[in-house]
Amino acid sequence: MNGSIILGIESSCDDTSAAVIKGNRILSNIAASQTIHNEYGGVVPELASRAHQQNIIPVIHQSLTKANIQQNEISAIGFTRGPGLLGSLLVGTSFAKSLAMSLDVPLIEVNHLQAHILAHFIEDANPVPPKFPFLCLTVSGGHTMIVLVEDYFDMKIIGKTIDDAAGEAFDKIGKLFGLDYPAGPIVDKLAKTGDPNVFTFSKPKMDGYDYSFSGVKTSVLYFIQKELKKNPEFISENLNDLCASVQKTITETLMLKLEKAAAEYQISEVAIAGGVSANSGLREAMLTNKEKLGWNIYIPKFEYTTDNAAMIAMVAQLKYERGEFSDLSVSASARYDL
Ligand code: KG4
Ligand code: ZN
Repeated sequence: MNGSIILGIESSCDDTSAAVIKGNRILSNIAASQTIHNEYGGVVPELASRAHQQNIIPVIHQSLTKANIQQNEISAIGFTRGPGLLGSLLVGTSFAKSLAMSLDVPLIEVNHLQAHILAHFIEDANPVPPKFPFLCLTVSGGHTMIVLVEDYFDMKIIGKTIDDAAGEAFDKIGKLFGLDYPAGPIVDKLAKTGDPNVFTFSKPKMDGYDYSFSGVKTSVLYFIQKELKKNPEFISENLNDLCASVQKTITETLMLKLEKAAAEYQISEVAIAGGVSANSGLREAMLTNKEKLGWNIYIPKFEYTTDNAAMIAMVAQLKYERGEFSDLSVSASARYDL
């Protein structure tokens, strides 16, 4: 990989992030997370967009300073074109376009979902990168899918959720327990001291490799409503066991289809990506399958799991090598297929 220096910008949801990459080595990866959404139980698009506008200049400035890079050393600007919240994407897209124009360097659009997957090729993401073809369970707040990755830019979705994403399920169920947004990491933390076998929630029965998580949420809702009638303190008295049981239900559901795909496609190179890949239960399940099924597993470093610009810079670097540049007329796309 060449040693070109590229600035990556990510603003698809509620994290404003900028990173500098040289070859496939990350020189800086700065993120400003927005806490304004916590009390609303989810991301408020209008607030997210405004916060991106406030954060973007300081975040880029910090990223260049940390990488010890002058603007004239930048070879190209990579940015998240989509998918995501339009108002959020517009901030990063407009900024990237203006910067590319003023520095007179190529502009490179990046698909956010491809970036979660290709983060595995960042130098320090894994001891060795995955070998093609590999399967990647891509699990975030907005997406849940099993992707067959034949090459860097040759990806096929073989299964996906038909309703809620896994991260969304963690967040919505956590909200039922009174936890702040995003509840996923909190559920994970509380689950560590809980017993996953105390409560059983129904698992979706879907054909093929597709997922469904809205039923789990409803099953938890009905269960706690019933229990709260008998004991108003039910949630607080059982919070850790509830979190552990929910985490077990979601991660077992995710792994079941991934195992089925690995067996049927006869692939033992298996990766996870996206915000939910930070989940300790999911990571443990992957480690178990490494032993049990002989998988070569790829679990990204924490900083490359939830939304970050390092992964955007990585994809931009791969596209830069291929000479795949975007026109300055490019616009943000809330929907943007793999
Ligand atoms: O990839 P990401 O940062 O943003 C999207 O592209 O959606 O993923 C955010 C999602 C949220 O739903 C969050 O609750 C979930 O990832 N998440 C987790 C954990 N860390 C983040 N879910 C379960 N356990 C975690 N440790
Ligand atoms: Zn994401």
